Amino acid sequence: MAFPQTRMRRLRSSSALRGLLRETEVAPSRLIMPMFISADGPSRVPIEAMPGIERLSIAEAEAEAQELFALGVPGLLLFGVPSQPEKDDCGSAAWDEAGVVQLALSAIKRAVPQMLLITDVCLCEYTSHGHCGVLSVTPSGARQVDNDASVELLARVAVSHARAGADVVAPSDMMDGRVAAIRKALDGAGCEQTPILAYSAKFASAFYGPFREAVGSAPAFGDRRGYQMDPANGCEAVREALLDVEEGADMLMVKPALAYCDLIAAVKRATSMPLAAYNVSGEYAMVKAAAAAGCLDEMETALEILTSLRRAGADVLITYHAKEAARWLAQIV
Ligand code: PBG
Repeated sequence: MAFPQTRMRRLRSSSALRGLLRETEVAPSRLIMPMFISADGPSRVPIEAMPGIERLSIAEAEAEAQELFALGVPGLLLFGVPSQPEKDDCGSAAWDEAGVVQLALSAIKRAVPQMLLITDVCLCEYTSHGHCGVLSVTPSGARQVDNDASVELLARVAVSHARAGADVVAPSDMMDGRVAAIRKALDGAGCEQTPILAYSAKFASAFYGPFREAVGSAPAFGDRRGYQMDPANGCEAVREALLDVEEGADMLMVKPALAYCDLIAAVKRATSMPLAAYNVSGEYAMVKAAAAAGCLDEMETALEILTSLRRAGADVLITYHAKEAARWLAQIV
């Protein structure tokens, strides 16, 4: 039946009706806050393009974790920022038992035992050349990121994180076969209960700009298009997701989020797996900049974006707005 029998506005006429019939909700329990931790150097280094986000020392990260947990944010995604002299060709500081992430894991676990600690497993923050794996030379003499050699090192990183207390490991490198290799290495190390959150469909995106400033991981030459996905490809994103399921991933991720809602929906539909959306640095920076310029209401815009990601099919929202969103949600309810 169409108009005038059907009037869609009838069910929009009061706040109570709208609340009763709302299909999608964002709760703090869905939020994960990314965190940048440096073992040394000055503390609380602000990241210019990301107002409100800073590089933290381990002690500051503990305090921040406490505050976030009290606001109802259940988890963190940890990124390490090693000092320049620690970086080398193969990113060996990434699996150092006394590396920044490993030390942060045990410190935050001690301070906030119930906080879920997810670690980003990648080499780009730790390699001198800023690529996500180790380099080799092709027969024709070109430099390339060597897939199979990188996978071995990534598995080592994942095991060292799990041993140091990571609750979940999240490989973000986009090498082929890394999920299976990490699963095997974790199981071999007695970490068979540690889940893998695979950055399954991770695109070579301009939206990562502010992040590379935050952790100093911009590649010294070339770009990441030889391993991260082409933003034009949707079917390929679903294939990547299906492969990660086959390799033993426990949760999947689509990244970036806002411009990729179609793929959040497609991956969810194709796999029925628990799914995270990573609302990345550039997406956060855009909202902050527009709000600062008086063009947008920050709270309404940020919550609308997070709601859209949930509506598209994401269970978990990884967002730099996590702390503010938890505060806003507490006010609204
Ligand atoms: C590391 C990594 C990146 C991000 C998460 N893990 C950067 C990149 O791939 O260059 C981006 C996160 C963000 O922009 O918020 N491989």
